[in-house]
Amino acid sequence: MDLFENLDCVKICAPMVRYSKLPFRVLVRQYGCDLAFSPMILADSFYSSQRARNSEFVTAEDDRPLVVQFAAKESIYFSESARLVEKYADGVDLNCGCPQKWAAQEGIGACLIDNPEFVADAVKQTRRKISNLKFSVSVKIRIHDDIRRTVDLCRQVQSAGVSFITVHGRTRTQRGEPVNLQAIKTIQESLDVPLVANGDIKSLDDVAHVREKTGVQGVMAARGLLENPAMYAGYNITPDQCVRDWVDISLSRGTSFNTMHHHLIYMLEKSLPKSERRLFNSLASTSAVLSYIDNYLVKWQ
Ligand SMILES: Cc1cc2nc3c(=O)[nH]c(=O)nc-3n(C[C@H](O)[C@H](O)[C@H](O)COP(=O)(O)O)c2cc1C
Repeated sequence: MDLFENLDCVKICAPMVRYSKLPFRVLVRQYGCDLAFSPMILADSFYSSQRARNSEFVTAEDDRPLVVQFAAKESIYFSESARLVEKYADGVDLNCGCPQKWAAQEGIGACLIDNPEFVADAVKQTRRKISNLKFSVSVKIRIHDDIRRTVDLCRQVQSAGVSFITVHGRTRTQRGEPVNLQAIKTIQESLDVPLVANGDIKSLDDVAHVREKTGVQGVMAARGLLENPAMYAGYNITPDQCVRDWVDISLSRGTSFNTMHHHLIYMLEKSLPKSERRLFNSLASTSAVLSYIDNYLVKWQ
């Protein structure tokens, strides 16, 4: 992927289970997002089941550049899944950041940061199997309490041939605590490959702040884009046009009512007064949502 060579700061849409699917990726790309990640996909079932592939991975010609994120605990499933998506994407990413209990019980997600040998092996095996060197092989991690362990993990992964690394600047047990920008800076200074910072980026001002404090080559946002998909284009609140674009995209790409509605609930959270929010959240059909938007949206912003 040439993005990191060509752009000063690559602006990325994070992997989000249930949310960073094709229609949402199309939307954020219209508003300044340079690169989008798929939701996390379980590599073993993706590799073994055509049904899983059909339901978990939907893309289109205008959905590029795209990184497909996998959860894996065996290198073979990560590397073979990479081969399966090679023609339809620009890279694969290994999830080493999901902190949920079920993931730890399965041996996937954030627990992998304590197994650098495995993460490095997964990267190495995958790099070996993919001949196209522009196809990226990346990892997304959380930090350790002792940041030297994170630096060590990143260096091992770098030696294995990783293309870039994303760091969510919190430990496995942290949730709402402030993102540790100093840790991200330390990691950035110890690596040659591009580093992407993740955590609490909600505006272009945040992008500039994180860049200045850490020197990273890219930023990744999840909740900031859910709340305002136009964030990377410089808007501080979801503009009306973006809401309308979302409705158009989701209708034309066959998005389910629930998905369309959930995204709208996020997008309108800041612009609707509380009483209106309650009403909007209770709408139960596409026609009710469309009629609400047509009749009231402009009034409330
Ligand atoms: C709804 C939702 C789904 C998520 N799904 C994933 C996922 O599939 N893979 C992953 O690595 N992180 C996932 N995350 C974590 C985000 O990618 C990100 O690391 C985290 O939310 C911190 O970034 P933020 O402050 O910009 O939200 C998810 C977060 C949210 C809110």
